[in-house]
Amino acid sequence: MKDPKLKTVYVCTNCGEVSPRWMGKCPSCGSWNTMVEDVVTPEPAAAKAGGSARREGVTSITARRLSEISTTEEKSRILTGISELDRVLGGGIVLGGVVLLSGEPGVGKSTMLLQLCGAISRQHSVLYVTGEESVRQVKLRAARLAVPQENIFLAAETDVDEICGLIEQQKPDLVVIDSIQTMRCADVSSSAGTVSQVKESTARLLAVAKTREIPMFLVGHVNKDGAIAGPKVMEHIVDTVLYFEGDKMLPYRILRAAKNRYGSTNEIGMFDMTGRGLAEIANPSQQLLEGRPMGVSGNCVACTIEGTRPILSEIQALATKTNFPAPRRASSGYDYNRMNLLIAVLEKRAGYFFGNLDVYVNIVGGLRLQETACDLPVCLSMVSSLLDRPVDDKTIAIGEVGLGGEVRSVPNLELRLKEAERIGFTTAIVPKHSLAHLDAAEFPKLKLVGAAYVQDAIRGLK
Ligand SMILES: Nc1ncnc2c1ncn2[C@@H]1O[C@H](COP(=O)(O)OP(=O)(O)OP(=O)(O)O)[C@@H](O)[C@H]1O
Ligand SMILES: [Mg+2]
Ligand SMILES: [Zn+2]
Repeated sequence: MKDPKLKTVYVCTNCGEVSPRWMGKCPSCGSWNTMVEDVVTPEPAAAKAGGSARREGVTSITARRLSEISTTEEKSRILTGISELDRVLGGGIVLGGVVLLSGEPGVGKSTMLLQLCGAISRQHSVLYVTGEESVRQVKLRAARLAVPQENIFLAAETDVDEICGLIEQQKPDLVVIDSIQTMRCADVSSSAGTVSQVKESTARLLAVAKTREIPMFLVGHVNKDGAIAGPKVMEHIVDTVLYFEGDKMLPYRILRAAKNRYGSTNEIGMFDMTGRGLAEIANPSQQLLEGRPMGVSGNCVACTIEGTRPILSEIQALATKTNFPAPRRASSGYDYNRMNLLIAVLEKRAGYFFGNLDVYVNIVGGLRLQETACDLPVCLSMVSSLLDRPVDDKTIAIGEVGLGGEVRSVPNLELRLKEAERIGFTTAIVPKHSLAHLDAAEFPKLKLVGAAYVQDAIRGLK
């Protein structure tokens, strides 16, 4: 029988809003179908009354002077040795920092964290708590990944208070919880994975992490519709939120920070999923351009800045005669609306008509190009496919295209050109205005061609 003290409420999985009845649309954040059922134990009356029992001027806590709190940078971080991960974290793991690693099922979250444990276990002791797999399964994975096993301690447990006790007893240097959705607090009545369990479990683990200064990684599942307690409600609580993304069909995995209290959120880390685990991709441009078809129309190389790093990526476009009443337009890895806008510019300003053609744009390698600096190469690849005239294989194009068809300057042009030169490109089409600010002597192997309008760049097609 249900405990009469328990109350059924509905909680928004997106923002945590609590409502006594179910609603299709969350009144707080406005998202649809995010309310899920949950049960809560009412707070005792004394706790509700808040400060009423407080005696004036009496406290058990003290505040410390900011200048007296010691933080030597090298002591407050642990370098993992996996440089792609360190980069995304903002220079290693922060002591006492709680990181939420989320991603779709099977993307490689457990793999990544086990490899992380292996990497730092040479100098530090690690506690890996799994609520999803048996210790034997984790052992099998560890053997496949060939991680050192001496300093990694495993526990298959889901009770948060037991885990907190274990952490306090063992005092590991790093804790991994795989996953937060399987954890539960015995005194919270709802089942594991509900918003209240996830929130409470996170809060208790966080408290231990902060007081003991033990860094902690939590795995959080996301599902496509965000049905069960998605990690969204936890994003406010934890220090860092990382998203591990990847196409199932491609071996590349991209790690991004969506929130980072201790670093920039612009950096990405790139990994390759292999049978022996995740391998770092130290030279993404090279990797992304590998096996690129040469002399084929519709292809153009773009350079995008991810964080502080320039990355070259291939854009493919295909313009073919349509079999539909209205031509199809589709893009993958590139903004659909931006593509339509560029088609409109090409039609109106440059006189290239795509009216009865289907147009497809694809970014090879699973990268998402969001920068306007990729406008010019996208235009070039589309026109190249339309005219069936290839862009020169050793030419790269950089520039934003305005509604007037003008090629506008972009930030970090030198950085992009340096990368293009390093990879072996010989010609770079750049905004004409930017030529004045560039020192050609800095790029001895690169011929710089200025384009004032998108037509100027198109004229260069073979
Ligand atoms: N023997 C293997 N050879 C190659 N790749 C493998 C092998 N075993 C697993 N993988 C890769 O590892 C991926 C699963 O990794 P992992 O279990 O770390 O994912 P996860 O994100 O933790 O998944 P879940 O959400 O189910 O916990 C698979 O999708 C597959 O790509
Ligand atoms: Mg897993
Ligand atoms: Zn909401």
